[in-house]
Formats: sequence, structure tokens, C-alpha cells
Amino acid sequence: MDHWKNLRAKAENAKPRRIVDLFKDADRAGTFSARLGDMLFDFSKTNIDDETLSGLIALAESADVAGRRDAMFGGEKINETEDRAVLHTALRASEGPVLVDGQDVIPGVHDVLNQMEAFVNAVRSGSFKGQGGKITDVVNIGIGGSDLGPVMALQALASYADGPRCHFVSNVDGAHISQVMRGLDLTTTLVIVASKTFTTIETMTNAETARTMMAEAVTDPSAQFAAVSTALDKTSAFGIAEERVFGFADWVGGRYSMWGPIGLSIMLAVGPANFRAFLKGAETMDKHFRTAPLAENMPVLLALVGMWHNQFCGYSTRAVLPYDQQLARLPAYLQQLEMESNGKRVAMDGTDLTVPAGPVVWGEPGTNGQHAFYQLIHQGTAVIPCEFLVAAEGNEMGRSRHHQLLMANCLAQSKALMLGRSLDEARAKMEAAGFEGAELDRQARHRVFPGNRPSTTLIYPKLTPEIFGQIVALYEHRVFVEGVILGINSFDQWGVELGKELAVSLEPIVTGAASSDGEDGSTKQLVAFIQAALN
Ligand code: F6P
Repeated sequence: MDHWKNLRAKAENAKPRRIVDLFKDADRAGTFSARLGDMLFDFSKTNIDDETLSGLIALAESADVAGRRDAMFGGEKINETEDRAVLHTALRASEGPVLVDGQDVIPGVHDVLNQMEAFVNAVRSGSFKGQGGKITDVVNIGIGGSDLGPVMALQALASYADGPRCHFVSNVDGAHISQVMRGLDLTTTLVIVASKTFTTIETMTNAETARTMMAEAVTDPSAQFAAVSTALDKTSAFGIAEERVFGFADWVGGRYSMWGPIGLSIMLAVGPANFRAFLKGAETMDKHFRTAPLAENMPVLLALVGMWHNQFCGYSTRAVLPYDQQLARLPAYLQQLEMESNGKRVAMDGTDLTVPAGPVVWGEPGTNGQHAFYQLIHQGTAVIPCEFLVAAEGNEMGRSRHHQLLMANCLAQSKALMLGRSLDEARAKMEAAGFEGAELDRQARHRVFPGNRPSTTLIYPKLTPEIFGQIVALYEHRVFVEGVILGINSFDQWGVELGKELAVSLEPIVTGAASSDGEDGSTKQLVAFIQAALN
């Protein structure tokens, strides 16, 4: 059977159907949900019926999701365009073996974790000191996968943080490093240079600047630097002592790397026990992903719902809306995870994709988003599937009115998106407010909500380190499943290269050291503007 064709036909047939009518099936909420321990993923407020769900699962089976998953966990080189294994899951595996080229990588992973733990304990206890005494502040310099995960995690686990304060510098814009370093006592600051390649121009430029700043504050600046990288020759060339260098292998993709040394800042902030709980949560999700039947498999279902909306219904963006301030940076993190992984136009075999690839992912925490862009989500012309996340209990004032309001708003939004408000209902409201005749009609039309807009909700008891680990691993595996079904390589990122190359050639033109003669008219005009403004 052509599963794509079958599902396209189902999407066409679903158009006139109202999601709310599907709830005539009293068991719908339970049927269109998945559970893992205390976490519940509810996708019943989507226009997916039994046949559609079966069709989506058949699509996953036909793409051999289970076989590709086993190949990934088994250390096969599934990142074919870079000839690499994909084993971020090994970073959180409590036991092996996991073989790459016949070698078990787990002992090495555990050695590095122990090395991180020893260093973190030394920093947190004060036995490792800066020139001015116990380390009070940590500055992580990195970008993309060497920044977004730790930034998100630090906010997610803020209520567990009892170590040094952690700060992040990513942008090459000098405003970033200046603003971060300005308020710090550098004599008690540790700088971590986090870069898988140790060549990324933004990170290396910031690292050089940080070293210059540190040299103005202390006599031995290198002593207050640590590094996280796969390129140990480059960390030593930068002058960072071996005992403060934490290595990892090329089978960890940048955007999948916070489970290992890239998570050093997280471990420094929340301590080794909480960091290990975070790893354990991810491992729980890994085990579920590996063993649960596809029809009960949370990452598989999350992926299939996403594909139903994007590839079959044609909704080309999705909003991630955490009703959890601590997950404020989850949308930004997912932008890299999902769009760098599945923003591709060529299949693994080099042919052009014939279906849309991964969607645009965006979002902000609720309730702030409600007062910004929800207008468009409710009444705009584009349908935007919404992915809500909410905890039953908050970490801060978890059972107070704050949290009750947060939960009520989250539930209200998914309900409003589904139900909408008809013209008759809007008319009745306006009539009661004293409107009549043509003005009643005109005003009522502005107050109609089409409804029938799909959403999912991921709900968990409380955002603990373990649950946070589960959530992030859930999204990682979702990206994997979508990539397998699309037939693309989710683990390379060639699309970031061209801009990097052109930036190198444009730098001397921008400074005036080289001529802009060979450039296009727009670039020439912009260069001329810069030079005129600076002269
Ligand atoms: O944006 C491209 C990219 O290579 C990302 O994939 C990666 O996370 C980021 O740059 C940073 O790379 P590195 O850790 O090597 O500095």
C-alpha cells in the first residue's frame, strides 16, 4: 500500500470533520494518549481518528523506524554523510556494551562523567579556587549545541541550583560578552570554552576576548579556564591544562551533546546527583523508545502527530508553548534540534525530497504568548498546531494561585482552540450587549473563532531533573523518527556552511582591507554604507 497516498486522502477527508465531534467516542482521550511513568502525552485534541492513527503507524513500520532506531542505538554509522555513529544515547546509558568499530564506548563515557564529577566537586567545595578564592561564577562560552542545551537546562533546573552562578556567552556581537562579564568578579570566575570542534569563529573570538579580560584581572588567566571539546590538540594549543579538558567523541552531534561534557555548566550549577538524575530520566525515555510497541511509543506518536499536521494537513509551522516558565528556553532549544536536524531538502540517497521536510518550530512560554501572538493562532488564516507542556505542580509556589491560574490557562487554550465560537454564539453575545441590525452582524463576525485547531498536551507531575531529562530525550527521538520517515539524514548540518564561508570572505571587505568590486549591488551598497558611517 502507498501509505503516503492513503494518508493524504485521509487528510482531505478530515477537512470537514470537527475535532470536538470525535469525542463522541467516550474513550477517545485514553485511546489517543501515551503514558510513560507519570508523564502523559494527550493528542486527542487533534483531527486524528482510529484509521488515521493506524495509517500513520503503518507509515512508520514501512519506513522501518524500529530497525533504524536499533541501528542508532547499536552504534551503526547512520550519519552517512559524515560517516559517523549517532550515540548521544550512550552518554546517558548506565550500562553497555555499546560498540563503535568493535569497541565498547561506555567505560570511556563513565570515565569522563567521573572526571567531570571530581572537578565539579572541587569547584563547588572550594578546593579548586580562582585567584580571589572560591569560584562564584561560571561563564560558558559556546554557541548552538554548545550553548542552547545548557542555557535551557539552567533555567529548567533553576530551583535545584545551589552551585556557582552560571552565565552564557554565545553571540559574536561584542555586546554579549561585555554585558555578561561586566558585573563579574573575574578573580572568582571560571570560564568554560565549550566547542565540539574548537574552531567555531564566534566561540573562539569570545574565548580570546575572555582570556584578555581575565589577564587584566588575574596573574594566571589559563588557570581559570576549562574546555569541553572533541579536539584535544586545539584545547591544548589554546593553553588549557589537560586536567581541565573534558573530551567527547565525534559520534555525539553538537545539538545532542548536553548529556556529556557540554553539560559541565549544568553539573556545576545543580551538582552531580541532580545531573545524574537528569541523565537517568533520558535513559528512561531511551528504554521506552527502544521497547514500547510503536502504537504506545511516546516519541513515535509525537512524531506521527507532527507529521500528520505538517506533511499531510499542510500546516507548515508548529508552536511549542510551555506553561512552565522554567521551560522558557525549550522553544529556542527545539529550533536548533528540530530545524538543524530535519530542515533538509535532499534524501539520504541524494535525491530531492518529494514531501515537505521538517516544519518551522517556534514558541514562547504561556501565559506570555497569550498576550502576544495567540490572536493569530485563534483567528489568523493559517492553522498552527500547538504543543502545550504543563506540570501538575510547580517548583516555585507550586500549589499556589499562580500555578492554578497557569494550569487553568493552559487547559483553556487547548479547549478554546478546539471548540472555537460560532457566529450564532457571537451574535447572541453582541445582542446581549445591545447591538442590533447591520452593526450587530459586523461586530459579531469579528468575534467568531473558527475552532477545530489542533493541539497536544504533555503533562507531568513536576519539572524535576528526571522529568526534564525525559522531556528532552522525547523530543530528540521525535526528531529521529520524523527524519527516518522522511528518509533524510537528521544528523548533519551542511546548510550552515555557506554563510560561514561567505562571512570569512566578507570580513576583509567590511573592514576595507579588500575591495567590494566583485560583489552584487546590494552587498556593495551595504558595504559602502558601513564605510561611510565609520569614517
Ligand atoms: O551551527 C552549526 C554548528 O556546527 C552546530 O551544529 C553546533 O552545535 C554549533 O555550530 C557549534 O559548534 P561547536 O560546538 O563545534 O563550536
